[in-house]
Amino acid sequence: MRLAIVKEAAVGETRVALLPDAVKKLIAGGLEVAVEVGAGVKAGILNEAYTQAGATLTTDRAALLTSADILPVVNAPSADDQRKIKPGCVVIGFLRPLDNPSALLPAIETGVTLFSVELVPRITRAQAMDALSSMATVAGYKAVILAADTLPRLFPMLMTAAGTIAPAKVFVIGAGVAGLQAIATARRLGAVVEAYDVRAAAGEQVRSLGAKFLDVDLGGLATEDKGGYAKELSEEALDRGRDLIAKTAKTADVIITTAQVPGRRSPLLLRRDAVENMRPGTVLIDLAAAGGGNCELTKPGETQVINGVTLLAPLNLATAVPGHASQLYSRNISNFLALIVKDGALKLNMEDEILSGSCVAHQGKVVNPRVASALEAAAGSKQVS
Ligand code: NAI
Repeated sequence: MRLAIVKEAAVGETRVALLPDAVKKLIAGGLEVAVEVGAGVKAGILNEAYTQAGATLTTDRAALLTSADILPVVNAPSADDQRKIKPGCVVIGFLRPLDNPSALLPAIETGVTLFSVELVPRITRAQAMDALSSMATVAGYKAVILAADTLPRLFPMLMTAAGTIAPAKVFVIGAGVAGLQAIATARRLGAVVEAYDVRAAAGEQVRSLGAKFLDVDLGGLATEDKGGYAKELSEEALDRGRDLIAKTAKTADVIITTAQVPGRRSPLLLRRDAVENMRPGTVLIDLAAAGGGNCELTKPGETQVINGVTLLAPLNLATAVPGHASQLYSRNISNFLALIVKDGALKLNMEDEILSGSCVAHQGKVVNPRVASALEAAAGSKQVS
């Protein structure tokens, strides 16, 4: 049974799917591991670390793809790479099965078994495989570091002979995994932090980190679904949040937005006038840019200066911390592999809700209904255009 680790080919990608310590354990468990030369270099891992762990190294990417029985990846392989993967091979990674399902068609048609980490159910047993939370943790931290680096002011309160410097005011919108990590990081740097979320449950977590939670009266509206995620709100309910957000943002030094609703466009929480009313020098980081952004003026992937306000919209901030992002991801993937590899052989128990929930395609068929509808919608819109 052969597991292969390839060098990630996506533009800007710096992470690697598995680290040498995980490779060592897999080899001890009876797998053979082959690694493409340079796979870990951008994450600070030298080729020798993989050979020391017992893996073989190769520059022959095509041979790796054609011979692998298991292929853990960070991003979905390109169409060309997918065509080289053998039928029955298990690919696991951030495959973007809902927002870009057509890109997976070559692998589906080849009969590759695809598992997507985005679809791993958020149940207690799967927490150690929750790659979304891992990357959100890294992104929340890095957003604050980026903001501190961009802000023309200091974060902590300082009392010096030349006078007192007031602490920075940081406003975090969306207190999920990324938001809470941003709050904790900003607090560690000495900022005064306020946060807003539609889920009332977030209030206690925000306060436990020493930040102030801003409550909005949404008239008893249910804002949370059964899975603990935010629901999509009506325009009227969103407006109540927007008013409070605009008012708080006027006096903030840094605003970090992380609000998302799974499977939907990111909610629009900051309109143009809210940005125009911010003080010059304010730094606004829209971490929801990949889903369309929380700010009306966001241009995903671009940095803009608008009336002295710097608006950053990074698309995949976890790639800016490749060492630890890879470490957490590698652990998530190892835990997933422990579910499907027993005594050195692949054993796919599709009755297991983690496997059935995260499986995109198996034996040439799309098995996830949401992915199947996303594919139909994509095919429909292609026909129309
Ligand atoms: P996310 O990335 O989907 O959203 C980020 C935040 O935006 C959420 O806190 C959400 O409530 C908030 N939001 C959405 N619409 C908003 C609006 N209009 N205004 C203000 N805020 C808005 O969520 P994330 O960070 O992935 O997780 C959110 C929750 O999911 C967690 O707090 C937890 O309850 C649950 N979760 C459970 C896990 C588990 O059991 N394994 C793991 C991770 C999260």
